[in-house]
Amino acid sequence: MEPFTPVIITVLSGKTRDGSLEIFDEIVLRAGDTVSVVGPTGSGKTAFINDIEVFACKDTVTGRTVLVNGRIPPDEMVRDPAKKPIALITQNTKCIADLTVKEFLEMHIRARRIPDDSRVGETIALANEFTGEKIAAPMHMTSLSGGQTRSLLIADAITISSAPIILLDEVESGGIFKETVISTLKANNKAVIFVTHDPFLALLSDRRIVMRNGAVERIIIPGGREKKIIHLVSSMDRVLFKIREEIRAGTLLDGGEDIS
Ligand SMILES: Nc1ncnc2c1ncn2[C@@H]1O[C@H](COP(=O)(O)OP(=O)(O)OP(=O)(O)O)[C@@H](O)[C@H]1O
Ligand SMILES: [Mg+2]
Repeated sequence: MEPFTPVIITVLSGKTRDGSLEIFDEIVLRAGDTVSVVGPTGSGKTAFINDIEVFACKDTVTGRTVLVNGRIPPDEMVRDPAKKPIALITQNTKCIADLTVKEFLEMHIRARRIPDDSRVGETIALANEFTGEKIAAPMHMTSLSGGQTRSLLIADAITISSAPIILLDEVESGGIFKETVISTLKANNKAVIFVTHDPFLALLSDRRIVMRNGAVERIIIPGGREKKIIHLVSSMDRVLFKIREEIRAGTLLDGGEDIS
């Protein structure tokens, strides 16, 4: 049984860094939505998703307000991690507890009072679909790479915490199959909001929020023209992925005749 009923998040506008009003009234996020957040360094991308994570109530630098199902969320949803419908995974997310992967997942299953612990294996198997560097139950959490940790926590957000809203802040480093992550989250009917500098990932979303000067500058809904470009970017991305993997493996690239 899912612990959360469907959740709709509404972001009400705040202010730019100069104090003028943002251009939108509200941004609504529902199950199955994939929204990317793009923009130059320092434009407020992380601040935007942090507002959602903390359920901002005009009490953050941006002055935005975040509603859950049309209302200011109750205190217990804000304070109790088991009642929070949101999982945030960032580039720096690290687990500092010295537990094995199995112990970590079991602890989380107990904390969520989930009776069935077949989810340990299920979570590890799912995480291994997201990363080429295989994770095993006896490994120590602290010894996992950044890509492995993020893969495991995204899998955990699907199988154990069952958070309906997943926020990802630039998780697309080497070693993580970003396209699989986004398509799996979508297939699981999650609302996904991800900050990215990756053109292919940005094009995969249903909506693209463009940030500038601390504010939402534009909301792009990809039209027919972009759909055509996706095929091109997707094949370029595959070529680049192969080259990146070859470089990671220490191969000397000799002109790349057989790369594509
Ligand atoms: N509307 C705003 N008003 C005032 N300060 C803001 C606003 N939005 C963001 N900031 C502040 O600007 C700084 C940069 O914002 P943020 O970290 O969100 O940028 P970013 O787009 O995530 O950058 P990067 O690409 O480097 O991760 C932060 O200190 C943040 O608190
Ligand atoms: Mg950031």
